[in-house]
Amino acid sequence: MKFETKIVRGNYKPDPTTGAIIPPLYQTSTYVLEQVGKDKGFDYTRSANPTRQLMEEHIAIIEEGKFCVAFSSGMATVDSCMKLLKSGDHIICSDDVYGGVSRHFNELMTNYNITFTYVDSHISQNIEDAIQSNTKMIWVETPTNPLLKITDLKKVRKIARKNDLLFAVDSTFATPIFLKPLEFGADLVIHSTTKYLSGHNQLIGGVVITNDGKLFNKLKFIQKTVGAVPSPFDCWLTILGIKTLSLRMKKHSQNAQILAKFLANHQKVSRVIYPGLKSDEGYSIASEQMTGFSGMISFELKGDISSGKKIMNSVTLCQLAESLGSVDTMITHPASMTHADVPKKDREKRGLTDGLVRISVGIEHIDDIIGDLEQALEKV
Ligand SMILES: Cc1ncc(COP(=O)(O)O)c(C=O)c1O
Repeated sequence: MKFETKIVRGNYKPDPTTGAIIPPLYQTSTYVLEQVGKDKGFDYTRSANPTRQLMEEHIAIIEEGKFCVAFSSGMATVDSCMKLLKSGDHIICSDDVYGGVSRHFNELMTNYNITFTYVDSHISQNIEDAIQSNTKMIWVETPTNPLLKITDLKKVRKIARKNDLLFAVDSTFATPIFLKPLEFGADLVIHSTTKYLSGHNQLIGGVVITNDGKLFNKLKFIQKTVGAVPSPFDCWLTILGIKTLSLRMKKHSQNAQILAKFLANHQKVSRVIYPGLKSDEGYSIASEQMTGFSGMISFELKGDISSGKKIMNSVTLCQLAESLGSVDTMITHPASMTHADVPKKDREKRGLTDGLVRISVGIEHIDDIIGDLEQALEKV
């Protein structure tokens, strides 16, 4: 079966009792047993639910992995992956990760004596140089949020294997349409399903995919023990969202490529970050390991910070909003929104300036997106 077909169909066969083409929604907390000790594979929805299981199987298929475990948000997924570690362990992490991830690591995990070293993972030698005797995991985002840095996964895999480290890749920005980190040796692939996978700003969710049976069993245990599970309804909505993932991602990527060129040629724009531009520092690795560049762009305007704010307050079609990965184009000010909890000095150190603007390019007609930004740029 071709990849596009798997994306639409997942593992679903029409419902045997009704023939329903769309999977039924099992919105239930519990299941009636036939006899003591005899159930039909389900006893309580915190442990397992047919709709959640179908979504997990669907996502494992499109990520070309063996196992998938779902959680109630991307952050609950990150938290569950951290529960694979023990007090005293050390993690090497990309320096430009989603602000919620670094907040979780720095303000929660450090209370449990887990320590972190942040490096620019675009240069893989930085990872090797940061290894300590207690290092247990390498955590990368590629492309990163919001500076869209690309990590060379093959190189990092070698470092992880040589040093017996778990290799986790947050692939939320790339999606399985453009990148399959398991092929490049990742042990854990993380997605916030809130973003492209569900695709319409309709829910919060997260998943982790792995080929390793032992890691899968541990994550399943964490899922049922902690109980940060997605609702059956959110899983059902995610299944519907995934059916159009391939089409949506092609359009997001096409629109982003055109918009990135427009911005790069605009006299009021000083810097455009998009891995699909030949001038971008991530372009060559992204071209090797990804099959498309996805729909996220960051840019800075000439002049002071107020220019960035002015453009965000002047758009009418683009939505000023926190999230990303939806069919609607969204514009964000990372310094005051998604990364507001990253201390200013840390933001500055990693190049996340107050003037940076991030756009999640939607699937509207590109002329309308450009028209909106053009009129907003005129006001700057
Ligand atoms: C790359 C990345 N990972 C994880 C998350 C967290 O996901 P959620 O908001 O679903 O908890 C986000 C949220 O923006 C993200 O951008």
